[in-house]
Amino acid sequence: MELTGRVAVVTGAARGIGRALAERFAAEGAAAVVVADLDSDGVSAVAAAIGPVAFPARLDVSDEAEISAFVADVLARHGHIDLFCSNAGVTTGHGLDAPASVWERTIAVNVLSHIYAARAVVPAMLSRGSGYLLNTCSAAGLLTSVDDAPYAVTKHAAVAFAEWLSMTYGDRGIRVSCLCPQFVNTPMVTEGLDVDKLRQIATIIEPEQVADDVVEAMREERFLILPHPEVAKYMANRGATHDRWLAGMRKLQAQLGGLERPPQ
Ligand SMILES: NC(=O)c1ccc[n+]([C@@H]2O[C@H](COP(=O)([O-])OP(=O)(O)OC[C@H]3O[C@@H](n4cnc5c(N)ncnc54)[C@H](O)[C@@H]3O)[C@@H](O)[C@H]2O)c1
Repeated sequence: MELTGRVAVVTGAARGIGRALAERFAAEGAAAVVVADLDSDGVSAVAAAIGPVAFPARLDVSDEAEISAFVADVLARHGHIDLFCSNAGVTTGHGLDAPASVWERTIAVNVLSHIYAARAVVPAMLSRGSGYLLNTCSAAGLLTSVDDAPYAVTKHAAVAFAEWLSMTYGDRGIRVSCLCPQFVNTPMVTEGLDVDKLRQIATIIEPEQVADDVVEAMREERFLILPHPEVAKYMANRGATHDRWLAGMRKLQAQLGGLERPPQ
């Protein structure tokens, strides 16, 4: 899919990857880019910087009633939605200590939001015979997260849901891509981790590079988007010998002990 003339929605667009996606879609000639986030000031600033094709909206993606009212409003104003990017997400920094409320919140933002969005947009996309869902998951959803159990679990669930959507609607005009970066230079990483230490063991890429990879992958209508190509090798290792992969992850977790973020 090309972005020219398209109506796109991006959640979690007040900063980070969502902001970079929205800016890039506008630069590609999208007719409208609806930028939605809990942070209404942030999303208004992003829309002002992008210009008249951008429309800000305050949205809590973890609330199904809000998503469905939001989608109805976008459809009323713009006629249809070509591309819905479920991008908003949260980390926790917790392991077994995570209280149930943290698990519930993380499941709601990282998984249920994708389900609510699909429930709201798929019927209209099926009636038009076309539409694109871009779900931001994570390499943590294909591998794991060494410092965050709720994040690892919810991102695996998000990948599973994206695969299910692709299997179920891929032959009915709906394209699905699953964005799975490792570390990206956004507040999610820079506010919680020791970035200098992290750079010694991992590649941290810029959100603009993620946006470039997304546009290229959508052009090819490719399911899996891996801005860090090494993730494909790690996935193959995990699939080939799970126990050896887990032993390696234990070693990495021990090495990274000092990187643990404070629980949020
Ligand atoms: N930064 C990374 O290294 C990295 C790596 C892999 C995947 N991801 C994923 O990419 C996505 C974007 O991450 P980012 O790095 O830009 O993070 P970020 O924290 O910089 O931005 C996330 C945005 O989501 C918004 N948000 C959070 N909860 C929301 C809710 N309930 N409703 C609406 N908006 C909400 C926040 O206000 C924020 O603007 C997330 O799904 C994240 O898990 C990030």
